[in-house]
Amino acid sequence: MVVGGFFGDEGKGKIVSYISYHDKPAIVARGGVGPNAGHTVTFRGKQYKLRQLPSGFVNETSRLLIGPGVLINPNILLKEIRETGVNPKRVGVDYQCGIIEDTHIKRDQKEDLKGRLGTTGTGCGPANADRALRILKLARDVDQLKEFLTDVPGELHEAIDNGEEVLIEGTQGTFLSLYHGTYPYVTSKDVTASAICSDVGIGPKYVKDVLIVFKAYVTRVGAGPLPGELSEEEAEKRGWLEIATVTGRKRRAAPFNFELARRAVKLNSATMIAITKLDRVYPDTYGVRDFDKLSDEAIEFVRRVEKEVGVPVKIISTGPDIMDTIDLRY
Ligand code: IMP
Ligand code: MG
Repeated sequence: MVVGGFFGDEGKGKIVSYISYHDKPAIVARGGVGPNAGHTVTFRGKQYKLRQLPSGFVNETSRLLIGPGVLINPNILLKEIRETGVNPKRVGVDYQCGIIEDTHIKRDQKEDLKGRLGTTGTGCGPANADRALRILKLARDVDQLKEFLTDVPGELHEAIDNGEEVLIEGTQGTFLSLYHGTYPYVTSKDVTASAICSDVGIGPKYVKDVLIVFKAYVTRVGAGPLPGELSEEEAEKRGWLEIATVTGRKRRAAPFNFELARRAVKLNSATMIAITKLDRVYPDTYGVRDFDKLSDEAIEFVRRVEKEVGVPVKIISTGPDIMDTIDLRY
């Protein structure tokens, strides 16, 4: 399972696509909130921004599932299937996924949500509210999704029982969790590893490893506290000024936060760490694929993360392409 350790946008899309390509899991299943998340995948010179489809699409043998805890905007899902060119037969949507309709998007874009909290305006909060009220439409009620409908927990358990590898893709980040984050500046659900398990319908005992993704610096979009926040000018100078995938907003930035990282590891019972965008902090590491070729300074940072957080760093990303990766898992 892959989860986000900060405020989302840690680079989970890159990590999930790399692992999928390398490990060739039978299934890649997506958990998390819904199309408020944007996972960026750079593969064979092309960039994809995925808000619904699992980032594991790059491995052609993986089945691509979306768990019942995840909200679906059918138009966005269908568009991504077209744009990635995946065979629609590979895609499965659980019967019980909640459906985002125009009314949810309208409600989300109203002042109290988008204005006060800086939500993504994608309808996720209002749709989850309707789900709690038990009035939300489910995927099984939507004609557009008919050909994709499946029992996602059933498929996952069949694969697990057959000894096949399964990769679960979490979205958002630990401190956007409705329970563990910086409430009220959070998303509309828990998004830690336990919630991601529940989203796809597997219990915690089936999870062999929880890989938590930390970017080498911290970013956040929307309102809410960001310890050590830099001015926009300083973020730009350091090359840390990013543009949000879903909303096009500028992301706020801060240096790596060891205290948050320690807490995130606990909340997710993470067993390994991935560090992304190391090259944005140590430019001489750009594109490096061999740990021994990292600069001393960069290695020192990686060692410090391990020491202060207490979990080994197993994957390091040094560039956007899925192959710009150092894999220390084996
Ligand atoms: P909502 O999830 O659209 O309701 O937005 C609530 C808060 O979570 C806002 O600050 C959003 O910017 C943030 N958020 C939700 N999903 C993501 C994500 O995938 N990456 C980064 N921030 C997110
Ligand atoms: Mg994102």
